[in-house]
Amino acid sequence: MDISVREMLKEEASARLELLEAATQDLRRTYQPRASGGRCAVEATGVLVALNGSALVGTAEYIQKEHHVYLQGIAVHSRYRGQGVCRALVLAAGEIAKRNGLPTLVLCAIEETGNVAIFEKLGFEISSRAIAQNHVSPSGGPVTQVEMEWKLRDMRIQSIA
Ligand SMILES: CC(C)(COP(=O)(O)OP(=O)(O)OC[C@H]1O[C@@H](n2cnc3c(N)ncnc32)[C@H](O)[C@@H]1OP(=O)(O)O)[C@@H](O)C(=O)NCCC(=O)NCCS
Repeated sequence: MDISVREMLKEEASARLELLEAATQDLRRTYQPRASGGRCAVEATGVLVALNGSALVGTAEYIQKEHHVYLQGIAVHSRYRGQGVCRALVLAAGEIAKRNGLPTLVLCAIEETGNVAIFEKLGFEISSRAIAQNHVSPSGGPVTQVEMEWKLRDMRIQSIA
């Protein structure tokens, strides 16, 4: 696979939303927003897309904060998982963070999805772990929210097309 990552073009918005919604459906088997909870997603500074040729195979939003870049809305098309698409998205976000003098990438994952191990493989470390306030399991039970960070001094930035 030949993956390239760049900022999303306006005309890609609906394909990206479709991909994001399919990935969200996958996650809903493990956790869902608390019925009474407020929405915790924040408006993004930018949206990245990962392309395999001309096919949109992954996406991630980034938010530039005062001291770090926060990642949310990370999703990879189910057929393209386990092939480095998320890694390419994270590295591209790392380049943006470095360019803006922000030394850390931060994201949140729900432990029960198994994603914490995936992000650890990518180089993130756990910074905190707590019962999620805004999310519950499908049966209404607690799930664990894990905040993870990647100090960019540890990141070997590769060239992103
Ligand atoms: C989580 C997700 C974004 C990972 O994307 P991906 O493109 O498959 O990840 P990568 O291929 O870049 O893999 C990163 C590392 O995790 C490993 N990995 C990926 N999927 C894995 C799995 N299911 N089990 C174990 N390891 C896995 C890869 O082998 C790789 O490690 P390596 O470089 O040591 O081989 C993707 O599975 C997805 O879209 N899931 C649904 C939506 C979601 O969970 N979003 C994240 C919300 S926080």
